Amino acid sequence: MAKLTGVDIANHNTKESCWVIVHGKAYDVTEFLPEHPGGSKIILKYAGKDATEEFEPIHPPDTLDKYLDKKFHLGKVDMSTVNIEEKQVDPDEAARQERIKHMPALEQCYNLSDFEYVAKQVMKRTAWGYYSSGADDEITMRENRTAFHKIWFRPKILIDVQHVDMSTTMLGSKCDIPFYITATALGKLGHPDGETVLTKAAAKHGIIQMIPTLASCSFDEIVDAADGKQTQWFQLYVNKDRDITARIVKHAEQRGCKGLFITVDAPQLGRREKDMRSKFSDDGSDVQKAGEGDSIDRSQGAARAISSFIDPSLSWKDIPFFQKITKMPVVLKGVQRVDDVMKAVEHGMHAVVLSNHGGRQLDTAPTGIELLAEVMAELRSRNWQDKIEIYVDGGVRRASDVVKAVCLGAKGVGIGRPFLYAMSSYGEPGVCRAIQLLKDEFEMNMRLIGARTVAELTPDLVDTRGLQVHTVTTGSDVLNQTVYSPLTNPVFKARANL
Ligand code: LAC
Repeated sequence: MAKLTGVDIANHNTKESCWVIVHGKAYDVTEFLPEHPGGSKIILKYAGKDATEEFEPIHPPDTLDKYLDKKFHLGKVDMSTVNIEEKQVDPDEAARQERIKHMPALEQCYNLSDFEYVAKQVMKRTAWGYYSSGADDEITMRENRTAFHKIWFRPKILIDVQHVDMSTTMLGSKCDIPFYITATALGKLGHPDGETVLTKAAAKHGIIQMIPTLASCSFDEIVDAADGKQTQWFQLYVNKDRDITARIVKHAEQRGCKGLFITVDAPQLGRREKDMRSKFSDDGSDVQKAGEGDSIDRSQGAARAISSFIDPSLSWKDIPFFQKITKMPVVLKGVQRVDDVMKAVEHGMHAVVLSNHGGRQLDTAPTGIELLAEVMAELRSRNWQDKIEIYVDGGVRRASDVVKAVCLGAKGVGIGRPFLYAMSSYGEPGVCRAIQLLKDEFEMNMRLIGARTVAELTPDLVDTRGLQVHTVTTGSDVLNQTVYSPLTNPVFKARANL
């Protein structure tokens, strides 16, 4: 069959007949427009054109096969006949390419903040905006970091620490060290191979990866990238359509996932202004009109556009449904108060993750680490501490943070953004180095604190008296001084006389 030409496609550039090109093939998406979870407007922007670049990070590769009837797959396009779009060029793009050329050597990164610093310089502005942003005034996001500084060690001396064993188990699976790569969306914004980069690094280091619902790679690609022995968990955003949810969960179990983490802190996605602002300049004119015949407001940034399927009606009543459809341990991710942990025990949950979603949801929600101290006290007072495993995430940048959490009673700690930054800057070797740095720090910390095994990391080794004080400091750590970007204000038009 003769290939389609650029002109063939360009003739279908309206909502009455909308064709787009993705990876050299044409698709008639006219009937799909009203169903698109990201709204019709964003597709119409590419009507009659090549949409590959925008499509790629946001849609797993099996999306078109799954959601668009085969009769709308129009076949190959002769790409030499397609006009290269005059793109709105990011004014910083040339300078960014220069920075990429002059990146520090990987060996010059000595801690996780170094990766974050490099990532900020080399990532596309929109990608950095999505990964790095937090909700509202970003107070919780910053507190996630500073909360760890309020816990101090009470190290023991003269313990024989020649041999140190950092290994542990989480949800029954063995791992080298008590942290895991937690779920984060849209991996291809940072690296063309997306989440599979994290999978491979996790395998090399014996750590667990939590696969996100909103990954850029398909779920199967991420499982296929695993080495067959490593442990993967699955993070679930619950779809309004429970049949879809059941299908996804059963598939995850069949493919060997060892834990189901249901996200419970995001009935609606938070407002992340850095993300919104970077989107604003991308397609400013559309944003002004968003709302007219399009239920998705693109001005809300990438996150909102990809999350419209999430069910805000999810409640405790739904828990038995999950326990019925899977044998995987069921875990609630994003618990933010003590009595909800107690409720989780009563509902037979295997575990909870104390988390505020990396400070991306409710601003001034408590930090996981502060909550952990309260939760363990309550569990111990009821003698329930062995009924449930407690995980915590948010703000972890040093292995000493992990040590503190484990001392307080956490079974393990989730780390998200730092691995995205290592991946976005240096790919798989970057993620491997980030993990290795944490392992080296962890071993050193255990020796210096006087603990030989994870079981010996106990509450008496930490002083938490400072934890109750909530302050947002700005000058106390590397992150704040060199990486953190303050929230900005609207930009005045050129030549404004300020
Ligand atoms: C976010 C969601 C998608 O935080 O997890 O952006």
